[in-house]
Amino acid sequence: MKYEVGTVILSAGAGTRMNLNVPKPLAPFMGDCLVDYPLRASVAMMNTVAPSKNLIGLVTGHGRDLVENYINENYKNENISYAFQKEQLGTAHALRCYFDQIEDSKNCEYTMVLCADTPLIEEASLLHLYNELKNKGLDGVAATFSVSAPKGYGRIIRSEDKGFHIVEEKDANEQERRVQEVNSGVYVLKTSFILEHLYSIDSENKAGEFYLTDLFKDEFNVAPILFDDASSFLGVNNLEQLEKSETIMRRRIATALRVKGVRFVDARHTYINTQKIGRGSFIHPYVNIDEKSEIGENVTIEPGCIIINSKIEDGAHVKAYSHLEEVVLRNSSVVGPYARLRPGADIGPESKIGNFVEIKKSKLDRGVKVSHLSYVGDAEIGEETNIGCGFITCNYDGANKHKTVIGKKSFIGSDSQTVAPVNIGDECFVASGSTVTHDMSDGSFAISRTKQVTKENMAKRFLKSK
Ligand code: UD1
Ligand code: CA
Repeated sequence: MKYEVGTVILSAGAGTRMNLNVPKPLAPFMGDCLVDYPLRASVAMMNTVAPSKNLIGLVTGHGRDLVENYINENYKNENISYAFQKEQLGTAHALRCYFDQIEDSKNCEYTMVLCADTPLIEEASLLHLYNELKNKGLDGVAATFSVSAPKGYGRIIRSEDKGFHIVEEKDANEQERRVQEVNSGVYVLKTSFILEHLYSIDSENKAGEFYLTDLFKDEFNVAPILFDDASSFLGVNNLEQLEKSETIMRRRIATALRVKGVRFVDARHTYINTQKIGRGSFIHPYVNIDEKSEIGENVTIEPGCIIINSKIEDGAHVKAYSHLEEVVLRNSSVVGPYARLRPGADIGPESKIGNFVEIKKSKLDRGVKVSHLSYVGDAEIGEETNIGCGFITCNYDGANKHKTVIGKKSFIGSDSQTVAPVNIGDECFVASGSTVTHDMSDGSFAISRTKQVTKENMAKRFLKSK
């Protein structure tokens, strides 16, 4: 089969400077892994260029099994193959592994080379490289950018007339080191051109490595493509660069959200990994929202809230310091401050959950109120039922969890508890301080507390003088 573009992602390095207990491609990034980002950008680019006629090859080495398992698990619909680079002899050697071990790699008209550690790369940049290559009839292009401190990067040495070459930091002389245009490590090349030159690259350099950068020579039909925005090509080699890259990624998300009409008090102090926030929503400082969450329109999220894998519908209001995980908040519900909603909490429209309330695996219908200091677990609560202060569903008997069902328009007095399993009907009334252990039919009243005994003048026996 013939392919238009083949992408190879070099990811054999150990990432020793990361100092993590996972191979570098699997380093955490925005709730996913580093390798997900160049992978998604290249998939997007290839789908734009030639849908369904693409190939992706990953060169793995360190932590090979872990990396391959992760990719196989998460990219079931992509055409991904692996090449193994046992010893890391350099980037050109890694590319040889790709061509030697992945049969179809040679059947791609063009080859795009990326590294697993450049997560900020964008589809648009890759398309630009590809278009420049084709429009100018070149054999190869390298994405470059300018930095004031070029240390560590290969320097771009442009020749007088046409081509260019790249000098690695280690091999550069004084004058070359001062060059501020650097190599990003992202390339698009004609596959035939690579195959013509790749195998004659030697390791005669200070590092003794096979440099992929040696594919570019002054006399070749190649060009550097300079990008204004260096941040797209930032490499992640240590945890400081990882943090910096995540910050840039969140800044991009915030910019996209503002354009959509999401307002921030101060986006620099928010940690938002999702772009799924609707127009008119308002985000306060120190809010964390993970990549799996979805927030509707006109939602307000006050300071210090943590929102994980949750769905918040239009008009909802999450007050300060609330913690939500695997939760649904329906239209115009109000939660917090200091609420804890645990997995399986489904809060109905116009419901109100107040301070110091914990809710787990429970479905609350429209207009339910649980305003203060309660625990609701494994329960169903019907429309417009009001739960007083300090209510507890006693759902656990030490071995199993049991269910509490409360109907609609009921009133549960403060400091009550239900010992599950138990059913309370519609329009029931539970007197304050009751322990409900038996089912209640619709419209019934329950009280379960001892009668009050009052003795005149007896308090002094108990009051201690100071
Ligand atoms: C490389 C470029 C340099 C460029 C820089 C941009 C070369 C010789 N130099 O340098 O010009 O400015 O990237 O970040 O290419 N890898 C393998 N197998 C190997 C060696 C590397 O798979 O044998 C992978 C690494 O895992 C990494 C990528 O290739 O994902 C880049 O390798 P790295 O060692 O980080 O190259 P740099 O020294 O940064
Ligand atoms: Ca690097």
